Amino acid sequence: MAQVVAAYGVVSALLALQAGASASSFFSLPRTFPNISACASEASAYSCENTTAVANTCCSPTPGGLVLQTQFWDTYTGLERKGQLLPKDSWTIHGLWPDNCDGSFEQYCDLSRQFDPAPSPAILPDGTAVPAYKGPGVDTFVAEFGRLDLLDYMNKYWVSQGQANNGFWGHEFSKHATCTSTFDVACYGPDYKKNQDVVDFFDAVVRAFKMYPTWEMLAASGIQPSNKTTYSLTQLQSALKAQTGSVPFLGCGHNGTVLQEVWYFHHVLGTEQFGHFKSVDSTTTSTCSKTAGIHYYERTPTSEREVRLLP
Ligand SMILES: *[C@@H]1O[C@H](CO)[C@@H](O)[C@H](O)[C@H]1NC(C)=O
Ligand SMILES: *[C@@H]1O[C@H](CO)[C@@H](O)[C@H](O)[C@H]1NC(C)=O
Ligand SMILES: *[C@@H]1O[C@H](CO)[C@@H](O)[C@H](O)[C@H]1NC(C)=O
Ligand SMILES: *[C@@H]1O[C@H](CO)[C@@H](O)[C@H](O)[C@H]1NC(C)=O
Repeated sequence: MAQVVAAYGVVSALLALQAGASASSFFSLPRTFPNISACASEASAYSCENTTAVANTCCSPTPGGLVLQTQFWDTYTGLERKGQLLPKDSWTIHGLWPDNCDGSFEQYCDLSRQFDPAPSPAILPDGTAVPAYKGPGVDTFVAEFGRLDLLDYMNKYWVSQGQANNGFWGHEFSKHATCTSTFDVACYGPDYKKNQDVVDFFDAVVRAFKMYPTWEMLAASGIQPSNKTTYSLTQLQSALKAQTGSVPFLGCGHNGTVLQEVWYFHHVLGTEQFGHFKSVDSTTTSTCSKTAGIHYYERTPTSEREVRLLP
């Protein structure tokens, strides 16, 4: 059973390949990055630190220069029977969000790249409707670029609750990455290959996520999931600040008593694809209780699986 489940993502990717992609796109792996040669002559500054310096928005995320790498601590997926399981001893990816420097944000900025089957919100504040996407899942885009390695990682660590993973990935791309200027199709120039921005975004998300192994960072301060004890907000924040240099946002449910989310904030030097991420303190107040004990629950064992390679 475990092997069947582990093979699920790769098998579905191979099926998608057979269905949609030519052999040539598989064997000649295309370069999947924009032509940003013009950025070499741009003044360099961290995003949100000198906005007058950014003339070419392909070179630095603008206006969404406060970049958040967001993660979940879920204890179940609701789709366990379909093999959608959480990675043991790891938090999961939520996304990579381009907040404005003041903490406000844009969403669904390019409806020509709408791949979210369940838009949320379905109507934007200005009244624009976001139509539900009905086409092939974004996992097929990744497979068409021959990136089964990326797809495998995403199936392991970018796991949704209550929705198939590929729908969640499409949601994250269309809601957030279409508002991240360095992924604008125009930045790719005439050599743009359809959906390469989607694959580039997923690569960038994974790269940012790998900087923050939250499970290990908390465990290093003796903070492990437990159904017997609770932790204080200060304990959790201090443990993460000690490792990252900044205080992330911690999100809690159940009136601030159950730990569910972490958001790591950054300013970025260069592009979101390849640039340098500098951690900065959260601009958002934690929703976890400052006084009550906070539960960091153990998962139901049948909701998780080992995804690491063991010797
Ligand atoms: C990148 O774009 C510049 C300006 O449009 C162009 O001169 C150059 O040839 C392009 N480079 C590549 C590798 O496509
Ligand atoms: C901000 O960028 C502009 C344009 O590159 C530059 O002239 C200015 O000195 C920069 N300001 C600071 C405080 O770095
Ligand atoms: C929620 O938490 C606040 C502050 O800790 C407390 O005063 C309040 O009674 C709690 N509400 C419920 C419904 O538990
Ligand atoms: C721990 O508690 C959570 C929340 O009640 C529950 O979902 C989970 O199954 C429990 N895990 C274990 C190992 O008891």
